[in-house]
Amino acid sequence: MKITISVIKADVGSLAGHHIVYQEQIELAKKILEEAKNNGLLIDYYVFNAGDDLELVMTHTKGESSPEIHGLAWNVFKEVTEKVSRPRKLYAAGQDLLSEAFSGNVRGMGPGVAEMEIEERRSEPIIVFAADKTEPGAWNLPLYRIFADPWNTAGLIIDPALHQGFVFRVLDVIEGKAINLKTPEEAYDLLALIGTTGRYIIERVYRADGLLAAVASVTRLSLIAGRYVGKDDPVCIVRCQHGLPAVGEALAPFFTPHFVAGWMRGSHYGPLMPVGLKDSRCSFFDGPPRVVALGFQLAEGKLIGPADLFEDVAFDHSRRIALQMAELIRRNGPIAPAILGPEELEYTGIKETLQRLASRFKPEK
Ligand code: F6R
Ligand code: MG
Ligand code: MG
Repeated sequence: MKITISVIKADVGSLAGHHIVYQEQIELAKKILEEAKNNGLLIDYYVFNAGDDLELVMTHTKGESSPEIHGLAWNVFKEVTEKVSRPRKLYAAGQDLLSEAFSGNVRGMGPGVAEMEIEERRSEPIIVFAADKTEPGAWNLPLYRIFADPWNTAGLIIDPALHQGFVFRVLDVIEGKAINLKTPEEAYDLLALIGTTGRYIIERVYRADGLLAAVASVTRLSLIAGRYVGKDDPVCIVRCQHGLPAVGEALAPFFTPHFVAGWMRGSHYGPLMPVGLKDSRCSFFDGPPRVVALGFQLAEGKLIGPADLFEDVAFDHSRRIALQMAELIRRNGPIAPAILGPEELEYTGIKETLQRLASRFKPEK
């Protein structure tokens, strides 16, 4: 039986500024998804938060981009906005709902989406990663390391099933085009693209034999809206074990935190800090950007779990390193390389300042 896992998320308002999803929002989302489960639309669901983002994990048999499933998610975000965010005057109520009316698919309407339709294996461990205060390009580095770097993933050398390599589907979000690149053969071509995280984003990874291994959300709100609307706070689903990277290999890149774009006002570089659910809330300078990893076993589409994978003392070490990185880069305040480059800041209020100052620039003597 084919099962689809749909992770659809949106920031529809939060408690204490952009800090955390409010409990009543989670409860209402659960109530609506429970009804959908009782009606037979969903097999199962799990609701959680990544900072101020409401995350819906749903399993069903409707396939990817199903209008029914997307409509359900849209309805959850609308209801939560109208029944909780607005009456409680939560901050930025309905922020990510960029359209008034639903038109069959939430893609391009604000919410982030990662979906995969798979034939469930004899045992099917998956990880749902969800980040706050960053953008989809934040997954480029970990996805490369998980599926192409033998220093990270021992299975690439040891397990014949991984040894054939992986195919990365990379989106150019500026041009709206996609390219497939195969590792290890085209590893350098792949790296030449994905270093530019604001433009080239890994969307899917397949094993050489075609098995779908990972899917990431690629929405860039600023490109949809043409202005700054908060960061996209991406999600990603990774299948693990038995001929795919082990759970521990999928988590390994996060042991040594890397810098990502986002953080305060979506305009700064900061370390991506792996945290358990209890710490999934951005505080210091609205950050640092955080990622949670929830492990599930699928059982005929039922979500067994989750295991809160970063809630482990091993990652205390990574959190300390992330905070040191945060402290160091914050010393630069508003000066590069702490702030994003001009092509990214273009979507922020800085644009107005540059326009206002333009006429005051005179030729240099
Ligand atoms: C970043 C983020 C926050 C806000 C910041 C200002 O993704 O959500 O850092 O950008 O708190 O928010 P406003 O402009 O709503 O006051
Ligand atoms: Mg927010
Ligand atoms: Mg957020």
